[in-house]
Amino acid sequence: MFNFDYRNPTKIVFGQNRLNELDQLIPADAKVLITYGGGSVKKFGTLDAVKAALGQRTVLEFGGIEPNPRYQTLMQAAALAKAEQIDFLLAVGGGSVMDGTKFIALASHYRGDCAELLFKGTEQVDASAVLPLGTVATLPATGSEMNGNAVITHPDGKLALSSPLAYPQFSILDPSLTFTLPKIQVANGVVDAFVHVCEQYMTYPVDARIQDRMAEGILRTLIEIGPITINEPNNYAARANLVWSATNALNGLIGVGVPQDWATHCIGHELTARFGIDHAQTLAIVMPALWQARRQQKAAKLLQYAERVWDICDGSDEQRIDAAIAKTRAFFESLGISTRLSHYADDENSIDDIIAALDAHGMTQLTETQDLGLDDSRAILQSAW
Ligand code: NZQ
Ligand code: ZN
Repeated sequence: MFNFDYRNPTKIVFGQNRLNELDQLIPADAKVLITYGGGSVKKFGTLDAVKAALGQRTVLEFGGIEPNPRYQTLMQAAALAKAEQIDFLLAVGGGSVMDGTKFIALASHYRGDCAELLFKGTEQVDASAVLPLGTVATLPATGSEMNGNAVITHPDGKLALSSPLAYPQFSILDPSLTFTLPKIQVANGVVDAFVHVCEQYMTYPVDARIQDRMAEGILRTLIEIGPITINEPNNYAARANLVWSATNALNGLIGVGVPQDWATHCIGHELTARFGIDHAQTLAIVMPALWQARRQQKAAKLLQYAERVWDICDGSDEQRIDAAIAKTRAFFESLGISTRLSHYADDENSIDDIIAALDAHGMTQLTETQDLGLDDSRAILQSAW
């Protein structure tokens, strides 16, 4: 196992009917900016419940944060937070709203060009100039509710930032707030969480037994409850397990002390930027093809995954690896998520655009051993076509 540091400062408030506890979670004299997306939280009553819980506090709203949140939109919110001397940001929504709000928290009082936060990293950010934030998460998928990551769509590309200053102080995870999700968003959530685990697991063994077994436990849980929670949206027990799986898939714990890949995400972000494909759907396209291309380098973990996640114990090594990749692809497809790029794009030459974007963003040495170059990414996308 590699050396590691681990600290996660986010307080999780999990369960039904806990929105009224916002009153204790946010300082009584705070001026609060509630951020939200395209209106689902208005339509389904979550916003009203949040405002009621905030009582007498001065509350402003900023709605309209898009899926794959846009830099320009977030800069408007940051300007509002600064002008109104906001003390606390409260994100009410899915990963896009939570990510966007992290960016607003960093950008509002940033002294400099805020694009630097995306292009130069966040090490130079002064902690005293970052607004505190909390979240009410309405979509289980990204883990944004308990990590310091944000993925922002800038005119020059879809870019990720990560900062210890961007963790929410708290996140309210009420599974019943997610009952209103369309089936496709629930399926997206299952796939995104599944791939987050795989990015931290499907590398090479370092005898990290806790991390491996936690990862395998999350994967098995997602396989068990995925179809149930998609088909029975009001089944609280199944949805509660999805919510907690998604959070644990990317709150850092299973990723400590182990090699990590993230090539699927890096290539996937370019597919979203170029074709507008939902984040999770890009991952379902890339990951099975990437595993096929890297089956030698990942052989030991693919065989462990075959046995411990899918109970595949018979056949030669090559046959078990084939079966594990096929099972994974079939699982995504069974949830209604296509694993083929041709499902979303109609010109195979457009793969050139993706390779050019990867090049422009410096994504030329991907995967856990940094030896997945542009030609490999091209071959992966061609085989995913
Ligand atoms: O905008 P509204 O009207 O709220 O509708 C949203 C949106 O259209 C809707 N929705 C959310 N909660 C709902 C609901 N509809 C009905 N009932 C509810 N309870 O769902 C749609 C999608 O929302 P979005 O937030 O975009 O989805 P998701 O949570 O999948 O987030 C995707 C974003 O997160 C980034 C992705 O790249 C993408 O930009 N990621 C963030 C990560 C992180 N912070 O660690 C890691 C991930 O790998 C990912 O990259
Ligand atoms: Zn993801």
